[in-house]
Amino acid sequence: IRIGVLISGNGSNLQAILDACREGRIPGEVVVVLSDKADAFGLERAHRAGVEAIHVDPAAYPTRTAFDAALAELLQAREVDLVCLAGYMRLVRKPMLTAFPDRILNIHPSLLPAFPGLDAQGQALAYGVKVAGCTVHFVTAGMDEGPIILQAAVPVLEDDTHEDLRARIQAEEHRIYPEAVRLFAEGRLRIEGRRVRILSPTA
Ligand code: GRF
Repeated sequence: IRIGVLISGNGSNLQAILDACREGRIPGEVVVVLSDKADAFGLERAHRAGVEAIHVDPAAYPTRTAFDAALAELLQAREVDLVCLAGYMRLVRKPMLTAFPDRILNIHPSLLPAFPGLDAQGQALAYGVKVAGCTVHFVTAGMDEGPIILQAAVPVLEDDTHEDLRARIQAEEHRIYPEAVRLFAEGRLRIEGRRVRILSPTA
């Protein structure tokens, strides 16, 4: 399948997906990376992998909807089958959701539905939970609330700093995001209401 990745920053999850495609763990290829931030390091990662990388400047569009329409057009022109949000710090709007129904995934650094929104790791530390983690889910109009595909849990240790917890969660993100993309690419995800059924591999 043809994958488009949306980023705003470092792009370590993008890197995990690029590596998994290169190593054959995902039956597909990243064909374009779009960033709403000109200085996102993920754009550099895309260049290094020989993947088209484009900064799309939200300030160049009159509305958020117009911006999302432009993103959808760029992705559709490249015949993208799946859109992966990877550290993309914006809500996805109608034009994207209609262009890619049930074809947009996101990774969030908490065990949803706990701690949606910004700084999930900070929220987890402040709340005092003993288990944290990450979630890959289908994207719907709400923030961090679509059907859940995969989750991974990590312990919160007694003297964890924000950075300790962030790094522990990220290691799991880099494992489950490519895995979820693989399941999607193999046609093994079925959305059933709120739930995602993961089908067994067909022999
Ligand atoms: C990750 O923690 C992800 O869960 C969140 O934003 C961060 C992106 O990191 N949505 P990176 O840009 O992939 O390194």
